[in-house]
Amino acid sequence: MVLVAPSILSADFASLGEEIHKVEKAGADWLHIDIMDGHFVPNLTIGPQVVADIRKKSSLFFDVHLMIERPEELIPAFVDAGADLITVHQEACIHLHRVVSMIKGYGKKVGVAVNPATSVSLLADIISEVDLVLIMSVNPGFGGQKFIPGAEEKIKSIKKMIKNKHLGIHVQVDGGINAETGRRVVEAGADVLVAGSYIFNSPNVKEAIKSLKL
Ligand code: DX5
Ligand code: ZN
Repeated sequence: MVLVAPSILSADFASLGEEIHKVEKAGADWLHIDIMDGHFVPNLTIGPQVVADIRKKSSLFFDVHLMIERPEELIPAFVDAGADLITVHQEACIHLHRVVSMIKGYGKKVGVAVNPATSVSLLADIISEVDLVLIMSVNPGFGGQKFIPGAEEKIKSIKKMIKNKHLGIHVQVDGGINAETGRRVVEAGADVLVAGSYIFNSPNVKEAIKSLKL
């Protein structure tokens, strides 16, 4: 079963509550929340206060994607704000094991993300500790970018690693996902699709979500 996680980065932030309600009603499985600090990525988004506010309006599973330096400093605030899953970037954590343990210590699900230029082989010694691996199919920072081919091969390698270690974890893909790229990454083994512009710019959000599950 494929899970669809609309990224609110492409929502209208002036009506965030209604936008979330719209995707929730249209069959979203998770809500993907992109947190950017202007350092790890060249863009800024929202902080824990906004997450806490939308938490009161939605019962969706909150998938918080931290694209920030020193995530350990803000993890407690995102836990308090109501995150269900917190994903950190391999590239942003000098002590990745410590950060992963910290998130698990709060009783939350934990994910590790890799940028397009980062080899999934770097996850070999942490994969048994996580609930999800996020393969970025764009360079993080902005919605609406084009899918970078190559993600499929990375998904296949990470799936092999997961199988060899007898793990049962999610493989999520984020960036440039639409019905066509979505099908390609699902064929490669992904089971959680993040999509921002494809869903929020669609005239029919329900159909867009449905098309990612085929
Ligand atoms: C990119 C973010 C994504 C982004 C995806 O830095 O992590 O979640 O919102 O947007 P689309 O689906 O438009 O590529
Ligand atoms: Zn994201």
